Amino acid sequence: MTTKPSSAPWVDEPYKLLPIPQIPKDTKPHSAIHSAAEMAHSHNCLLRGLNAILQQGPHIPSSAQANHNTQDVKDLLFYVEAWTKTVEHHHHTEETTMFPAIEKLAGIPGLMSGPMHQHEAFHSGLVELQEYAVRMQGKVQEYEWRELKGIIDAFAPALYEHLTAEIGVILDLEKDCDSQGLKAVWDEAERVAKANGNLGMLYEVFPLVLGTCDKTYEGGNEFPPLPAPIPYAIKYWFGRSHSGAWRFNPCDFWGKPQPLPMLPENRGK
Ligand SMILES: [Fe+2]
Repeated sequence: MTTKPSSAPWVDEPYKLLPIPQIPKDTKPHSAIHSAAEMAHSHNCLLRGLNAILQQGPHIPSSAQANHNTQDVKDLLFYVEAWTKTVEHHHHTEETTMFPAIEKLAGIPGLMSGPMHQHEAFHSGLVELQEYAVRMQGKVQEYEWRELKGIIDAFAPALYEHLTAEIGVILDLEKDCDSQGLKAVWDEAERVAKANGNLGMLYEVFPLVLGTCDKTYEGGNEFPPLPAPIPYAIKYWFGRSHSGAWRFNPCDFWGKPQPLPMLPENRGK
């Protein structure tokens, strides 16, 4: 269940958020359940970011419309660019580190080929969206919401199908992987993902990741498992250079849901 900050539209639609697989408390659970739960949280961050764009984008007038504000358009486009980089980073870690290690652990070549092929189904659309967002930041007068939305609509259903299906694939690893081995693969993938995160990501991706985590989701959670000072560092240092873009985030940097700041009724609050 989603904790919405009000009855107004929020980022639990149009793309529905994924339920989190529940880890049983009474027996010693296979680590596939924990891995699937972490993956579902992380996919929900991607979906909240996508929904934040779809919910607020129509309310940012282009240059031909009344109440146009050039900076608002640039901020929206930067947010879109950051979202595409977040999705890319997530899938790059899976393809280069996590999935090959899972196949090796299970001793089954091609075990993860389903999710890998699904990546191909939306990859070119994601690249097109990133290129559009980058190009239009230098040509704001040519930006059109309709055009941006058309690019998203062409690949988002395939992305959604993938984000949903991958949770089931990871739960099924219980059959083919030993629990300890899978946990080691998971920990290593997290370590590599953090190591691959360059300084630019702290300025351009982390503020979106933290601002799309909802710590109240389904009764509360501790995702992402990060040291307590990180949200402060993002808010007061790394997030400052593009603070206009982070206005599109649906949650604050501590994972607290907020009414969508760029909806007309919430502007200036
Ligand atoms: Fe994933």
